[in-house]
Amino acid sequence: MTRILAIVNQKGGVGKTTTAVNMATALAAVGKKVLLIDFDPQGNASTGLGIEPSARKITSYHMLINGLPANEATLETMIPRLHIVPSNIDLSAAEIELVSMEQREFLLKRSLEKSSLNYDYVMIDCPPSLGLITLNALTAAHSVLIPLQCEFYALEGLSHLLKTIKLIQGNLNPNLTIHGVVLTMYDKRNKLTEHIENDVRGFLGDVVYETVIPRNVRISEAPSHGKPALIYDLQCAGSKAYLKLAKELIKREKNLSRLVAA
Ligand SMILES: Nc1ncnc2c1ncn2[C@@H]1O[C@H](COP(=O)(O)OP(=O)(O)O)[C@@H](O)[C@H]1O
Ligand SMILES: [Mg+2]
Repeated sequence: MTRILAIVNQKGGVGKTTTAVNMATALAAVGKKVLLIDFDPQGNASTGLGIEPSARKITSYHMLINGLPANEATLETMIPRLHIVPSNIDLSAAEIELVSMEQREFLLKRSLEKSSLNYDYVMIDCPPSLGLITLNALTAAHSVLIPLQCEFYALEGLSHLLKTIKLIQGNLNPNLTIHGVVLTMYDKRNKLTEHIENDVRGFLGDVVYETVIPRNVRISEAPSHGKPALIYDLQCAGSKAYLKLAKELIKREKNLSRLVAA
């Protein structure tokens, strides 16, 4: 069965795309078949996997707005077993076009259902908002993966996100679960990091993955080379952390906690 994971946080710059690209790569590296859907008009996930702008003729926009079946929008990447549906700035128009469309929250789900998907995982890299594009991802997904940066306002944004997820569970997608929260750009020398970590773990318990992703310069260098960190430098601390997180994610699959949002 294909597991569909939406990578969501309405804040920008918290590590959604980095997590999407490197988790997709790590899962492919351990033998899983993975489709990464770039669902952000900025197209960072496409760039991070080396997809040239000229190769982005068919994009996630066409899945959403034209009802194109997912399997007709996929491209191969440099990584065996990892495919991508790219995106570009066209997708920014979708947020407005969707408003007047029928079944506007279900369009990504329909596109994914139109063809039988030969993937273990579909990962959706969402934009930094809780607009209709993200709602489409949350409606299509089995579960949500939330990257959280250890900083002062993190918890405030998180409770808003949890409320939104609860609303989706009540209306659009009753079976949606929270797969987990991953602490990103973790800096163990920073006292605030430790403080936020204690708060988040105290609040959410086991929902927070044991694995944390350290702040690591190799991770931030990799996208400018059009490569996931795991390909750019497999030995760096960031790559090792994403591999560890992939293993934790697979292990957790069997026992997903259904979070009752506060
Ligand atoms: N663990 C990390 N260590 C260092 N830099 C990181 C790390 N994770 C992300 N970054 C950098 O932080 C910025 C924002 O990350 P990104 O994944 O694009 O966030 P989002 O998709 O949530 O907007 C990018 O420049 C990225 O390279
Ligand atoms: Mg992003």
